[in-house]
Amino acid sequence: MLAGKRILLIVSGGIAAYKVLDLIRRLRERGAGVIPVMTRAAEQFVTPLSLSALAGEKVYRDLFDLTDEAEMGHIQLSRAADLVVVAPATANLLAKMAGGQADDLASTLLLATDKAVLVAPAMNVRMWQHPATQRNVATLRGDGVAFVGPNEGDMACGEYGPGRMAEVPEILAAIEAALAGGPLRGRRVVVTSGPTHEPIDPVRYIANRSSGAQGTSIARALAGLGAEVVFVTGPATVPPPAGVEVVRVETAREMLEAVQAALPADAAVFAAAVADWRVANAAGQKMKKDGTGLAPALEFAENPDILATVAGMSEGRPRLVVGFAAETHDVEAHARAKRDRKACDWIVANDVSPATGIMGGAENEVTLITAEGAETWPRLSKDEVAGRLAQRIAEALA
Ligand code: C5P
Repeated sequence: MLAGKRILLIVSGGIAAYKVLDLIRRLRERGAGVIPVMTRAAEQFVTPLSLSALAGEKVYRDLFDLTDEAEMGHIQLSRAADLVVVAPATANLLAKMAGGQADDLASTLLLATDKAVLVAPAMNVRMWQHPATQRNVATLRGDGVAFVGPNEGDMACGEYGPGRMAEVPEILAAIEAALAGGPLRGRRVVVTSGPTHEPIDPVRYIANRSSGAQGTSIARALAGLGAEVVFVTGPATVPPPAGVEVVRVETAREMLEAVQAALPADAAVFAAAVADWRVANAAGQKMKKDGTGLAPALEFAENPDILATVAGMSEGRPRLVVGFAAETHDVEAHARAKRDRKACDWIVANDVSPATGIMGGAENEVTLITAEGAETWPRLSKDEVAGRLAQRIAEALA
């Protein structure tokens, strides 16, 4: 699968750079070509000569090297490969990537490339766990950058924890997956996310506390596996992921329309917290106090159930329809009943009772209900839940 592929390998300055020598050998054994690029700091850990000898190629090091610019400009260099791999990626290089800085050859290539980027971070555990690095990683994931590792273990600095660069076989597998385009290539998936806003009058509305975090992670994970994702989102507080088609809506009825317009699709994932009711007597103008002291009475009408509508389509129904069930008690029993009632294929159920801290939090603990039964996953970050779910969707559509 790697034969004939060209990898632009950017090496930044970390002790893990020594593993890259082996990575180059393994890539070449598999028939891939490697164009090495080094940062200044990387030269403290491995020599340009080792890299070029193993790659059988010139090593690129300088942004303003006139010979290189004459032979191959940095824009061309950034695009001449099938995949850009950064290994090891230091905290500093991740920060520059997340900030869009281009002050040396490596960062300039990363900003100029139009190719997929795979990053293998390596750094001290505290540097990895620092909120600044975690923010940068989240930003980069949002930009569609793929990550492999870091792993947990003993570190060269004598500490223990996450920060070790992924091992060469893991990086090779990630490179193969990135080049394969992902198991969902050619599949179209509609994802709903966020809350809906149901107007009371032109300035007031009824809403709920959904941030859109879980739906956003799912859309990102599906896109990461190569799916063409239509992301229909209510007014969420987290930004939509990169690499998906974003359709912004406000109300449940607009969300249904947008979903129907996005069909046909291979799968639909309904992660939105759709308002069950809208205000039936919403005013066309701002409602005013009329001096009588009487408060206006709001009348409610039931919103369409988007999940049930799509799951019940007799023609053109997506092959896999996934709903969510946020419950505060008897999670599994309620979720099973919901799966039957709404005629969807899977329900991702979670316990949102306040004690779990899940609503609005970064983690989730879910039970996946399918025709085969119920499967409870351990407590995971919302990104990890999304990754697992996307993987399962890929298997179901295979
Ligand atoms: O009935 P309940 O709101 O608990 O169902 C939750 C599931 O149904 C979620 O997947 C949600 O996105 C979906 N839903 C919907 N349209 C509605 C209400 C819920 O798609 N009007």
